Parts: sequence; structure tokens; C-alpha cells
Amino acid sequence: MALRQAVKSSNLIRFLPQYASAANVKQSSTWGSVEMGPPDAILGLTEAFKKDTNPKKVSLGAGAYRDDNGKPFILQCVKTAEKQMMEENVDHEYAPISGPPSFCKASAELAFGADSSVIKDGRNVTVQGISGTGSLRLGGAFFSKFYAKSKVFYTPTPTWGNHIPIFKHAGLDIQSYRYYDPKTCGFDFNGALEDISKIPEGGVVVLHACAHNPTGVDPKPEQWKEISSVMKQKKLYPFFDMAYQGFASGDINKDAFAVRHFLADGHEIALCQSYAKNMGLYGERAGAFTIVCSSKEEADRITSQIKILIRAMYSSPPIHGARIVDRVLNSPELRNMWLGEVKGMADRIISMRQKLKDGLAREGSSHNWQHITDQIGMFCFTGLKPEQVDRLINEFHIYLTKDGRISVAGVTSGNVDYVANAMHQVSK
Ligand SMILES: Cc1ncc(COP(=O)(O)O)c(C=O)c1O
Repeated sequence: MALRQAVKSSNLIRFLPQYASAANVKQSSTWGSVEMGPPDAILGLTEAFKKDTNPKKVSLGAGAYRDDNGKPFILQCVKTAEKQMMEENVDHEYAPISGPPSFCKASAELAFGADSSVIKDGRNVTVQGISGTGSLRLGGAFFSKFYAKSKVFYTPTPTWGNHIPIFKHAGLDIQSYRYYDPKTCGFDFNGALEDISKIPEGGVVVLHACAHNPTGVDPKPEQWKEISSVMKQKKLYPFFDMAYQGFASGDINKDAFAVRHFLADGHEIALCQSYAKNMGLYGERAGAFTIVCSSKEEADRITSQIKILIRAMYSSPPIHGARIVDRVLNSPELRNMWLGEVKGMADRIISMRQKLKDGLAREGSSHNWQHITDQIGMFCFTGLKPEQVDRLINEFHIYLTKDGRISVAGVTSGNVDYVANAMHQVSK
């Protein structure tokens, strides 16, 4: 027995007849040297949640909006647009390489405002991207190939988990700047400003336009103004990721403040947009990538090069989601419906933040949970420690990421008291 154990724990296992063939196959096969990759943290959490049979289980991991019954939400404006498209018997032809022109124009106007002088002057290049992720990847590819001043992207600490792999995959280097202050569960304004001001000229600074993921912590308008002015002085390039326009405050214009202020300050920005959250089009992969140029002539040259990149990467973008967005944004009736529905989603999240905070106070928690309502958007960085998260998962069947982030969209009138009680139990 002892001998068998010793053999098993050593490399000699390959020579046992029952193991030899598997090891030989692995060694001789073409892909034998490919290691098993680590599982995706969020998808792993979703799998564990699905397997859990406890009726009280709550999913606060994945960043997808849920209604007050915990169900996926299909926006009425989207349903209406799809119905119209069915009735009109729309075809399935290829989209143009850069996406439908009216979709691109509406996306730029949504971000910059319909009266934007950049758009009027034809200085923006706006193309459809494969949702937010694809737009970031396309932007990464463009900077990697054409931006001569720097190959370093500076991301906030922490940032959305996929930013770093996306930009690295595009051949860029990543460095970071301070952003979140664990002591206050808020924005480390001085730290961010100090780090940004030390970035060498030409560096590309990745900025979450609103509803920062994963922390839910956004700079205030006055703080954005200072960041913009320091970046202007230091000649840094603002690369905005706006995956949650409308989702943070419920007002698409308020959430676009940072982007519009940087433009007003004269920055030539890059911008990635996503319609996954604010139109509930997660799987449709509709988004946009924009670069602001110094002239229309420059914009035409940039457009030609971005099209060449797209052609080689995926030829042309998916059409269905872009058509829905196009209709919703360009029809006054559907657009109004959408504005009401985005506000409805944001308001439900804001009210759940308040209820969660009130619930913790009712439980008698002695901690300061003010950050739950100060933070904004889909996510809340609770400040819970990894061992407290483990207890929430194992004892209370409440699933969240190890960093203590919860998706407030998963909190409902039906589970908020249970979640508040569990958070109190593990943190008292
Ligand atoms: C900050 C941020 N950027 C981009 C995305 C991209 O999302 P998608 O590719 O689904 O549009 C997300 C999604 O979670 C995000 O949080």
C-alpha cells in the first residue's frame, strides 16, 4: 500500500500499466503540452450558484441586470423594435465593415450630445464594435499599431478584470494608477491625481466614464475637471470605457459628464461604448468605438485604417443588436420609452442600495455602510474580506466575488433582508 502511494506521488506513475497509455498519449499528442487554464472567476461562481439547491440562494456575482423577481429583463423598447423588424421582414445581409452608419451616428450623439461640435465638424470616427469588449479590443489594436507616443495603457486599481487581458492581447503594456481607497471605500482622489500626474507624456489613461466596475466609485464632477486639466497639462491620452451610460444615475446626459467635459477641455479622446447593460442586449454584442480627430480629413484616414483592422479580425460586426439600437435611438417614440426604462433599472438599483443599508442598520451593524449608497451603478464594493465572503457563500448561499463585490442588480425586495442579515452575521 505504502509502495503504491509512493509510486503514485512520484513521476514513476507513468510506468504503471494502467497510467502509461494516458501519459503516452498526452506526451505524443499535438496538444500534449497545453496546460489547463484557470477557470473564469465569475463563470465559476455562476456554475456553483446553479448547482446549489438551497431555496434561499442568492446570486450577486454576475453583472447582469435582474428585475425585482430576480429574472432577466427584456426592455419593452427592444421588444417593440424586434417586432417591427419581424414585420418588416428584415434580411440577414452583411453589415457594413464599420456597422450601420445610422447606428454609429446615434452612438456618437448619445455619448457626446446631439449638438456636439466634434460630430458637426465630422471629427469623430465611430464604428460598431462587438459590444464593449470588442470595442476595447479594436481600440487596443488601433493604438498598438498606430499610436506612436506610447505603448503603455494605465488602468485604475482595481479595474474591470478583463481590461488587462484585452489590452495585453492587443500587444500593449499595462501599468496602473491609484483609484480605490479601501479605508474609505471611496475614491482615492489625491492618489489618482498624484499617480496620473507622474505618467510620462503621451501615456494612455483608461478611464471608466461612469459606474466604475468593480468598485461603484466615481469621481465627482469637480474631480473629473481636475483630472482632465492635469491630463491636458501632462499631454496624456484619455481612453474612455463607457459600459454603463444611463445605468449609474438613470440619466444618460449626467452619466456622460466626464466624456463631454474632456471634449469641452479640448482632449482628443478614444471611447468604447456598450449597449449590453443599458439596453439589456448582453448577448447581441452591440457597442461602438470612437476616436476624436483633429480634422475631418484626419478622421477619413483613421476610418480607412480601422476598417482594415476590422476586416482582418472579424470582417463585419453582428447586425441584429445594432439594428435594435439603431431603431430605439432614432425613433422618438422608442427612444422615450428607452429613457424611461433605463431610469427604471437605475432607480431599482438605487432603491436596493438604500434598502440594503437600512437593513444593516436595523440588524444593529456597528459598521459604517454609507458607501453602499454613495457608490453608484451595478456594483458595490462592500469592503467584506475574503473569509467573510467564504462564509456568505458556504453558510448563507449568497454568491459574490472574493473581492467583496456584489452586483446590486441581484438584490430584490424579496431577498434584501436576508442579504442584510447575512452580511451582518459575517461582519459583526
Ligand atoms: C467596465 C466594463 N467595460 C466593458 C464591459 C464590456 O461588456 P460587454 O462586452 O458585455 O459589452 C464591461 C462588462 O461588464 C464592463 O464592466
